[in-house]
Amino acid sequence: MPFENLTPDRLNLFQRIWYSIFPGTYYGNADRQRYRRLFNSLLLHFRPKTVPRRTLKFTLTWGLGGMAVVLVGMLFVTGLMLKFAYQPVPDQAYASIVNLQNTVLFGRLIRNIHHWSGNALLLVVFLHFLRVFFTGAFQPPRQFNWVLGLVMFLLVLGSNFTGYLLPWDQLAFWAITICTGMLEYIPGIGVGLKKMISGGNEIGPATLSNFFAVHTAVIPACLLILMPFHFWRVRKSKGLVIPRSPQQDPADKGESVATIPNLIIRELAVAAVLIALIMVVSVLFNAPLEAKANPGLSPNPTKAPWYFAGLQELLLHFHPLFAVLLIPVVTIVALFFLPYIRYDADTAGVWFASLRGRRAAIVAVVVGLIITPPAIIADEFIIDVAAWMPGVPAVISNGLLPAALALAGIIGFYGLMKRYYAANNNEAIQAVFVLLLMAFIILTITCIWFRGSGMALMWPG
Ligand code: HEM
Ligand code: HEM
Repeated sequence: MPFENLTPDRLNLFQRIWYSIFPGTYYGNADRQRYRRLFNSLLLHFRPKTVPRRTLKFTLTWGLGGMAVVLVGMLFVTGLMLKFAYQPVPDQAYASIVNLQNTVLFGRLIRNIHHWSGNALLLVVFLHFLRVFFTGAFQPPRQFNWVLGLVMFLLVLGSNFTGYLLPWDQLAFWAITICTGMLEYIPGIGVGLKKMISGGNEIGPATLSNFFAVHTAVIPACLLILMPFHFWRVRKSKGLVIPRSPQQDPADKGESVATIPNLIIRELAVAAVLIALIMVVSVLFNAPLEAKANPGLSPNPTKAPWYFAGLQELLLHFHPLFAVLLIPVVTIVALFFLPYIRYDADTAGVWFASLRGRRAAIVAVVVGLIITPPAIIADEFIIDVAAWMPGVPAVISNGLLPAALALAGIIGFYGLMKRYYAANNNEAIQAVFVLLLMAFIILTITCIWFRGSGMALMWPG
């Protein structure tokens, strides 16, 4: 070793500086080993010493949880940098972003990284949620980690939503106007809720200041608390689910291997590829910035951010009470209770629960694809409830009735799966989940690409 047996008085300048930070580092190989052990044991505070070899399989996690951690890290670093240049007041917010992009060294790149990481995080967390669901990793003992995950999902949504307003351009102003406007439809508390979030009757200085505080302090603080809790729960559940075929014994964990280097090297590789990807995208594609917000001139069509497009589309088909309150709230509550249902089988670690579960999921995809687009088109061009049922309040004709019809369809589909497919409740619930997921994806795609002027249905291009 180069520094072996050197005493401090014989070190050069660089070595003396190094020595002032890490005293004793130069005292030979044995010491080095000791320091490495210390560093490793620090790492192992967050990780078990060994992990089952089978959980290292990329196709179990797809690296998604780790990617979410890396993206949150990138968002915190770039977000803190943006705070140096950004002014959260309507008169200056837009100008501060233009200034950041045009005059601050690497300002545009940092904004782009923040923008793309925020959007990528939403996608990655959604995919992580799907992988946890489809590998049955929400079943005991992991129920509460599912709940924590859902709360973090809502926080990430909130983070993207509050960040969206900050550039104070036309896109931001009108998208947030549309979204906060949706709240007004909630009976009783809607107007008050909208007022509380916007800080007044309209989107203005108070809204920007509220959103800025929530975006840069409240949500980051919540994430900083919940993320370690989430990881701790993974450890308390004795690690990840073990990927297996339906016939394999869930108790058989197989061989274990050392976390360092087996797991760490894989995590570093995923992180490196992800960071490189975000960098390339951030160099090639700029975060959008339209003209400065003009409260007097609304663009046509005015669309919500892409992650709320499904909700905006739903609003075109259902009475607002159902579209913005009952359907989303029932869905979220159902997701929170999902791990607490009594299931027929322990499917943790088996992708899609079983072979039959996989087939039932494919049927659900096909049914979703066959039903949703025609339903959207029929509602646009053929169905006219107001004309068909004059005198009946819209909340019934356009809310209760179609919602009851949809619910009957879902229950019927569940029954069909159980009866004709002989599915157990794991498989049948999964099939319903896939059906709703398909409908949600199609609604989102329709709003983003197939809605034009006045939100009329149109062919893109
Ligand atoms: C989960 C974490 C976060 C997410 C998902 C997120 C997302 C976003 C998004 C989507 C924007 C709009 C970017 C654009 O298109 O212009 C934004 C802007 C901004 N964010 Fe974040 N962010 C996060 C964390 C943070 C943190 C921790 C800070 C600072 C402490 C921060 C500070 C800012 C600032 C100052 C802006 C305005 C600059 C701009 O719009 O370019 N963000 N954020
Ligand atoms: C900011 C958001 C999130 C972060 C940073 C995060 C991070 C992680 C990480 C690093 C793991 C271990 C590795 C892996 O499974 O990929 C994990 C596992 C887990 N996550 Fe998340 N997660 C987030 C959101 C969610 C969501 C939305 C859910 C579900 C609703 C969820 C539920 C779980 C569960 C149940 C596990 C244990 C999986 C198993 O045992 O196989 N997480 N999470």
